[in-house]
Amino acid sequence: MIEAENLTKYYGTFLAIDDVSFEVGKGEIVGFLGPNGAGKTTTMRILSGFMPPTSGTARVAGHDIHSQSLEARKCIGYLPETVPIYKDMTVEGFLRFYGKIRGMDKRRRESRIQEVMQLCRIEGYARTYIHKLSKGYRQLVGVSQAILHEPDVLILDEPTIGIDPRQVVQIRQLIKDLGQEHTVIISTHILAEVSMICERIMIMDHGKIMAVDSAENLSQRLKGAQKIEIEVKGPAESIASRLRDVKGVFEVTIEGSGDQRKFAVECAPGEDIRDELASAVVESGFSLLGLKSYEMSVEDIFLKLTNREEN
Ligand SMILES: Nc1ncnc2c1ncn2[C@@H]1O[C@H](COP(=O)(O)OP(=O)(O)O)[C@@H](O)[C@H]1O
Ligand SMILES: [Mg+2]
Repeated sequence: MIEAENLTKYYGTFLAIDDVSFEVGKGEIVGFLGPNGAGKTTTMRILSGFMPPTSGTARVAGHDIHSQSLEARKCIGYLPETVPIYKDMTVEGFLRFYGKIRGMDKRRRESRIQEVMQLCRIEGYARTYIHKLSKGYRQLVGVSQAILHEPDVLILDEPTIGIDPRQVVQIRQLIKDLGQEHTVIISTHILAEVSMICERIMIMDHGKIMAVDSAENLSQRLKGAQKIEIEVKGPAESIASRLRDVKGVFEVTIEGSGDQRKFAVECAPGEDIRDELASAVVESGFSLLGLKSYEMSVEDIFLKLTNREEN
């Protein structure tokens, strides 16, 4: 449904996104997860046709976002980071205005306005001026606007940012519900949020996609990946390679320098493999100097996934 190929965007000389490629299948809910400045908004603005890429292409429902921009945009509902809401309009008036811009015929438009207000549970505010609404309700108006013309694809940029927790729950549920009939891309910098809503997660940082994983795998890693730190005397590479052979080990990184090294071993949650690791070291003739185990925090994993720890 969405195919992005080698999207690159420079703001002046600043490289905001760098050769980003991905695909989103019909009916999928995909999350863009990344810290501020990662390039999420830039990517979403390009996909929704608000801004051209410096190079690269994208297709939405088969329509090129550049050469078939009108067709592509018809298939997309976009909730920008800051919703351009006209504060001196009523909710209904605002939706009507948007429906007109989108060229919806009157009958369809009027019935659809009632429909989306019900879906987003804002029908009680139809005649309320938008400036009187809380941020959460404004965001719901923004979502109503995005789905008004019944697009196949929804692009939602940080839909829950700055909203009070009770409404966050409502908005997340709404997005999940919308995901049953739409292809959805949502961006967030909240780890827990993507694993709640999304089937697949793309982790972005410094303008690049660093990792793509299923929500299930990611939350598995979030729940209980463990890290064991082992201090061993001997040739680092051989020790690391021996440790990698131990069952249940995901990854081994060599830390420090010289002959006495520390090895950070990441392993499957829930199993205690310290015994196996110690035996592997000793049986290979190396001296084990120390061994300790700790759980990786959410922060550790995020840092790891975005490769920030090396910077
Ligand atoms: N209009 C702009 N002009 C110059 N730099 C920009 C502009 N918009 C965004 N940037 C920069 O591009 C990078 C990516 O921004 P953005 O796509 O908004 O990231 P995110 O949405 O992940 O926070 C950031 O470093 C940001 O400062
Ligand atoms: Mg952003």
